[in-house]
Amino acid sequence: MIELKTPSELDAIGAAGKIVGDVLTAVHDHAAPGRSPRGLDDMAADLIAAAGATPTFLGYHPQWAPQPYPAVTCASVNDAVVHGIPGPTPLAPGDLLSVDLAVHIDGWCADAAFSMVIGDDPDPADVELVATTERALAAGIAAARPGARMGDVANAIGKIGRAGGYGLLADHGGHGVGRTMHEAPHVPNEGKAGRGLTLRSGLVIAIEPMLIAGGRDRYRHDPDGWTLRTSDGSRAAHTEHTIAITEDGPRVLTANRPHAKTG
Ligand code: MF3
Ligand code: CO
Repeated sequence: MIELKTPSELDAIGAAGKIVGDVLTAVHDHAAPGRSPRGLDDMAADLIAAAGATPTFLGYHPQWAPQPYPAVTCASVNDAVVHGIPGPTPLAPGDLLSVDLAVHIDGWCADAAFSMVIGDDPDPADVELVATTERALAAGIAAARPGARMGDVANAIGKIGRAGGYGLLADHGGHGVGRTMHEAPHVPNEGKAGRGLTLRSGLVIAIEPMLIAGGRDRYRHDPDGWTLRTSDGSRAAHTEHTIAITEDGPRVLTANRPHAKTG
């Protein structure tokens, strides 16, 4: 079932989104050579608690996962595309890091992610990958209008990814967001314009392009059951906003999350 939210419910999701954005900004600002994803995750946990919110990922256990998710953020480094478990290995200059976070507050959820390159001397290829992922997200958001179809959003994202020569994950994408993190509908990262669900005012979705350098679409899971990694070691970037479809155009409910450093 697809649930449409009222204006006051959008405000409640926006309050969760504000916390997500604030915490991701702090993670972004502290992500530097020598810091570990696990240390950044601990910091995120403290900030979420201080904000009176609950980390949505921690303990999340979908049927396909062999273990409940063990952290507050997902930290996906280099060839990890999404769902990386924050580990103790310090970040190194040139690492490509994506951080994903959802929180609940007052019964409502918001979900967002960003990618960045660690240190001051990024590989231009990584900068371009991250920038294209952001452009794909922006195009998906711009297509999310009342009366448009889900295929229009998917097509806008996929077109930009493919035009950049990047690979995409066929069966991963965004999702409805509301009282729970993952609701209907699925939001594909590639598709045919003019097809699929007709979008209506009040629909809240997370849009999350994941692009793979080198142009191949293949991936595998790590033994931890969570981390999704490219099959050939290529780097990947991921970015995400929770947005509402409204008569006034798309409303980004996680607008204050950090923006990619694009050099
Ligand atoms: N934004 C990611 C998604 O929607 C969050 C992963 S949830 C986790 O898939 F709990 F698995 F980490
Ligand atoms: Co998501």
